[in-house]
Amino acid sequence: MAEQKADFQAGGKNHTYEIKDGTIGPSVVDISSLYKDSGMFTYDPGFTSTASCESKITYIDGDEGTLLYRGYPIEQLADHGDFLESCYLLLYGELPNKMEKDDFVNRVTYHTMIHEQMSKFFSGFRRDAHPMAVMVGVVGALSAFYHDSTDIADPHQRMIASLRMIAKMPTIAAMAYKYHIGQPFVYPRNDLDYAANFLHMCFAVPCEDYKVNPVLARAMDRIFILHADHEQNASTSTVRLAGSSGANPFACIAAGIACLWGPAHGGANEAALNMLSEIGSVDRIPEYIARAKDKNDPFRLMGFGHRVYKNYDPRARIMQKTTHEVLGELGIKDDPLLDVAMELEKIALNDEYFVQKKLYPNIDFYSGITLRALGFPTNMFTVLFALARTVGWIAQWKEMVEDPSQRIGRPRQLYTGYPQRDYVPITQRR
Ligand code: SDX
Repeated sequence: MAEQKADFQAGGKNHTYEIKDGTIGPSVVDISSLYKDSGMFTYDPGFTSTASCESKITYIDGDEGTLLYRGYPIEQLADHGDFLESCYLLLYGELPNKMEKDDFVNRVTYHTMIHEQMSKFFSGFRRDAHPMAVMVGVVGALSAFYHDSTDIADPHQRMIASLRMIAKMPTIAAMAYKYHIGQPFVYPRNDLDYAANFLHMCFAVPCEDYKVNPVLARAMDRIFILHADHEQNASTSTVRLAGSSGANPFACIAAGIACLWGPAHGGANEAALNMLSEIGSVDRIPEYIARAKDKNDPFRLMGFGHRVYKNYDPRARIMQKTTHEVLGELGIKDDPLLDVAMELEKIALNDEYFVQKKLYPNIDFYSGITLRALGFPTNMFTVLFALARTVGWIAQWKEMVEDPSQRIGRPRQLYTGYPQRDYVPITQRR
């Protein structure tokens, strides 16, 4: 097909730029020479119309409510696969065959322990520190222990660092939880699969045997798959930008964790459950719907809305199904928060304001109810999101580092401050 062009008038001159097509999804206008050609920048705070990179990893169609990992629909991966298979797929681009899968699981399994001295980091935190604060600190500190896999120019070290991050996040997350509740750390076990091992490290105690419920382990594994990657979201863009300076992968992941913590992003699962608890009962829902619509009220319905999805978040559907599975397995017949969530969703989806603004439940809306039923406190919810998203961050970081056209990310600005002015001695100031 003939090369498409985009014409742009600026400063009385015409500029023509190439339009690049992806495999699927929106095309892009390559304006990388715009400033050189016209002396002007584009202006797109929040990057609502900006493609920051080329990627082959994850595709989202916000209008269709589609999410593909390397072309495979999230529904199929969640139904038929497991988390480590999705990790392999995200990292290497293809589903593993039996030998590749067994080798990958084995390599991850034998990287789950952390350096024994790292356990000393936790005691520097107050017990009531938010577990996400602990995660940012301890994951950032990994680069102090594993400097033999921080040379990002070495493909072998990149691969080791990727495995270490995927393998050690459950161990560190479980340690953050155990430290928070004042219980002893539980070491990883090589005879348990990834999700079961994590649940065992969180809920086992030295005084008795702890048997992981396989239905709950399967649900945990599926929740990890749903959270694994999501295109160029805020925390992934943070990891890419940090990595573009050549920073080591552990430091980049720590930056991603920090960004994910915000309530507009990964912190929404914690905020959504707190909101459902605050609403408390179905009869109080109209009051909160009104607040969410009130321009003078900063209140937002947590777990609703999305920058990209203007249709139902496909992950939210699978999460809702998982919620019912977990509550059923645990014999929780009537969870008042689930009643509030389902009634809130029903009302919101029929309210003109939400319909007009295309606000649907996102992945964070139901995840909190499920994670609470699994036994996690609310302040651990975003830690679990970070655990699962680590593979997405590391896969995107790896793709960026291996991109020959990669350069340090350095956006410009629209400056609206003072023009140059001279220094005023303090004796002459008002
Ligand atoms: C995640 O990017 C990703 O892919 C993220 C994520 C991932 O996997 O990485 O999917 C994970 O972060 C999911 C989103 C979790 N956040 C929340 O649930 C917090 C509540 N949602 C909102 O804060 C908001 O919807 C965002 C942050 C998710 C999206 O923000 P946008 O795209 O900047 O949209 P916006 O804030 O400009 O809202 C557009 C309009 C506004 O009204 P107007 O100014 O046009 O009149 O919709 C309104 C907003 O007021 N709106 C809401 C709302 N979300 C948007 N009104 C009430 N409740 C809400 N939840």
